[in-house]
Amino acid sequence: AIERTFSIIKPDAVAKNVIGEIVSRFEKNGLRVVASKMMQLSKEQAEGFYAEHKERPFFNDLVKFMTSGPIVAQVLEGENAVMKNRDLMGATNPKEAAAGTIRADFAVSIDENAVHGSDAAESAAKEIAYFFSADELCDRIR
Ligand code: CMP
Repeated sequence: AIERTFSIIKPDAVAKNVIGEIVSRFEKNGLRVVASKMMQLSKEQAEGFYAEHKERPFFNDLVKFMTSGPIVAQVLEGENAVMKNRDLMGATNPKEAAAGTIRADFAVSIDENAVHGSDAAESAAKEIAYFFSADELCDRIR
């Protein structure tokens, strides 16, 4: 079914100037950008977004990294969008990511891993609502 997922192009990928190359992979694989904004996250925004990881040992480093420079937050729409985006991203740890995936090609470490993508439809809905209001979503398939 046509569904939506939430994507972040993280500060390392923005700094490497590969926003377009990453979005191009989404587009070439049937995902459409229906909302997009570049932003500098505050500490509070990053902590809120990753609240489920609050007790993890990497939480502070994660927040520090995600606030280290601008990100691009996007909503992607398409057939099986959540899983498709996860396939395109590759494993969380780029050292384990399959050849040809975004993380294999653009990321250097599990901390600086180029992209975030929702892990399920429910988290996608939550994450989309965290960053976008309904009127910022530009439906293209209706
Ligand atoms: P992301 O999908 O954005 O969700 C949480 C992030 O924490 C994850 O990608 C990684 O970049 C980062 N992270 C750092 N260490 C770990 C770890 N051991 N396990 C999972 N995520 C980690």
